[in-house]
Amino acid sequence: MQIAILGNADSITRQDNSLLIKTAQAEARVWVYSPTIIRICVTKNGKEPDESFAVIEKPLDNFNWQKLTDTVEVTTSALKLVIDLHPLRFSFFTADGKPLSEDDPRFGINWQAERVVNYRKLYPDEKFLGLGEKAGDLNRRGCNYVNWNTDAALHTITSDPLYKTFPFFIGLHSGLSYGLFFDNTHKSYFDFGASTDEQMSWFGADGGDMNYYFFGAQGLRNILEDYTWLTGRMEMPPLWSLGYQQCRWSYMNAQEVLDVARKFREKDIPADVMYCDIDYMDGYKIFTWNKETFPDPKGMIDELKSMDFRLVTIVDPGIKIDQDYKQYKEGVDHGYFATYPNGELYVGSVWPGRCHFPDFFNEEVREWWGASFDALADPGVEGFWNDMNEPAAWGQNIPWMVKFGERFMPQVRNVYGMQMARATYNGTKHILKGKRPFILTRAAYAGTQRYSALWTGDNAATDEHMLFGQRLVNSLGLAGMPMTGVDIGGFMGNPTPELMVRWNSLGPYVPMFRNHAALGMSMREPWQWGEAYEQIIKKDIEQRYKLLPYIYSGFYQSTQTGLPLSRTLAIDYTDDENIYDSGFQNQFLFGDSILVAPVVSTAETAEVYLPGGEWYRLSSDEKFVGNQTIDVPSPLTELPVFVKAGGIVPMQNIIQSTNEPGDGILQIHIWNGDQANSFIYYEDDGVTYDYQQGVYYKRSITFNPQKKEVTFSPVEGIYISRYSKLRLIWHGFAKMPDVEVKQSNDLLTINY
Ligand code: GLC
Repeated sequence: MQIAILGNADSITRQDNSLLIKTAQAEARVWVYSPTIIRICVTKNGKEPDESFAVIEKPLDNFNWQKLTDTVEVTTSALKLVIDLHPLRFSFFTADGKPLSEDDPRFGINWQAERVVNYRKLYPDEKFLGLGEKAGDLNRRGCNYVNWNTDAALHTITSDPLYKTFPFFIGLHSGLSYGLFFDNTHKSYFDFGASTDEQMSWFGADGGDMNYYFFGAQGLRNILEDYTWLTGRMEMPPLWSLGYQQCRWSYMNAQEVLDVARKFREKDIPADVMYCDIDYMDGYKIFTWNKETFPDPKGMIDELKSMDFRLVTIVDPGIKIDQDYKQYKEGVDHGYFATYPNGELYVGSVWPGRCHFPDFFNEEVREWWGASFDALADPGVEGFWNDMNEPAAWGQNIPWMVKFGERFMPQVRNVYGMQMARATYNGTKHILKGKRPFILTRAAYAGTQRYSALWTGDNAATDEHMLFGQRLVNSLGLAGMPMTGVDIGGFMGNPTPELMVRWNSLGPYVPMFRNHAALGMSMREPWQWGEAYEQIIKKDIEQRYKLLPYIYSGFYQSTQTGLPLSRTLAIDYTDDENIYDSGFQNQFLFGDSILVAPVVSTAETAEVYLPGGEWYRLSSDEKFVGNQTIDVPSPLTELPVFVKAGGIVPMQNIIQSTNEPGDGILQIHIWNGDQANSFIYYEDDGVTYDYQQGVYYKRSITFNPQKKEVTFSPVEGIYISRYSKLRLIWHGFAKMPDVEVKQSNDLLTINY
């Protein structure tokens, strides 16, 4: 097999808003999207349309470039791209000339048949973060990965690939940072210096173009802001989806669903969501209900609603081959399913038996799929769980020649799940007439945050999976996905009561708090573990509800900046080597101020690394100085959770569901510190899109220890807060009584 390495540039021209450089092997185009974002696309055949499932922004019309003797330089206020012309190589520098990331001068971009690869210089101290849902350590240096969305049932903590594709990584070296998003949906590969004698890192794909976006902003927050500007940010989630979610494969009939919901209320354990897994359907036919076991879906959902529960139902892409089934007939009649090259419909088997698979790349199919949700939404379902969309078929090997419109399987596999989530989101948003749908998907591609929440698939009931799951959630946050969760308790296997308790105690601090378990596994509801453990789990769930004002504001921050709720410490403490230590790499910040250290269920003490600054233990207000490792007690009743000095955490009293109005008091907890700090508090109705028309309540709360005051800026937006009183609660101050003031939209200043 020949290798075609990019050779000398033959011509350089300006074409529309790009720079076009031709070589004998291929042509390269360069666009500037912003001062910190430059795109390069090198194509051998140039025949595929220039389209992206991930990117929603357009390049700038103009940018500065200059032809020098052997190079072309593209410059922005933040970046310098030096393009060597003999041979064609690309190197990125800061505006003042510090190298950020460069092609390997020998091999640069090249092809072996259709495989395209970019070999890049590896800096001695370079670290790599990212790729979303991937096994391994926080620092991915020395590892290699494959993106090929897979139904990774029974995966271990070292399995690769898993369910999702986020070909976006962050490089760190010499005190500098950069990001790189390889927007190519084919099976792709990333090697962070695994087997190159420390000479190179590389990434590539089985087909398509060498099409990447380079992010040169300094600091992870800025890179993430740019990446989520380019690929979009999530919308405000429905508030109820941030409550406690109870799932199981499956609650087998309506009675069981209602009994479980009722028991939460009887026991005063807060909860918002019940799930129906595949057994609610008639023969696993999507958009149907089993007439024997769920005879009256509306009646059941009305009853759930009367108890302040929402229902989420599962859908899979596989449409059962059954002559009496509406979606089967419609799909066949209109040619909506994937085919073989000769036009025969592709058949693969999943839960329903033999199935066809919708072509979600066709807009008409997406609309048809989306409209079919009336069968679920009419009786009252508001959440739609998209599973098996890698897509899964038993045997896990859908042939490469299977076609979705003009595209073959190898090109679309990694983005199929995202397109299903897109169709589900658009369809249900329309059907719900102004209410926010909740979409949850297993498979995803970069940009899925615009449509859906994610969970990490079929994990196992072990301590190592609990820790691994948290690392996945933190890493997905670096891929622009703020609304994520794991199957708490573990999908496969049965957790010990201790593990169940411990895992639930992480629940308040993950973006999505959902318990789930596989068919045949032990029941997982909070009351299945004995009275003592039930009380601990109840407390954890209550903690979630207390924190909801903080969490909801955190999601607002995500919608504005792309910052996730669960944040690897690498975001704010990038240069602190300790946070990459295998013992501490699972620790994370939850929102701006809370630090959480996951601990296995068998330990009663924990070694925690506190980064620079001062910290208070949340449960006791005990103060610690940072930049050190501490040993702290961590009985099952008390996960090590800390608050940063100066931290501002809005909370509320316990409610049983997000539907409850509560006592009308917004508690503003402030932990003493010597630095001023502020927090953007955000509230809206939690249900509709009215916030997009200004119906929200937003103000910043500032703590200023120099002036000894706390201020609430004037309220922006026209939403009337559900809290009629604001109560300041002090931590780490010399004995100070709580201060309570009446809600007011004007500037409020409280001196202490
Ligand atoms: C898959 C999902 C799991 C679900 C099951 C049955 O294994 O990952 O969450 O419960 O299918 O639908």
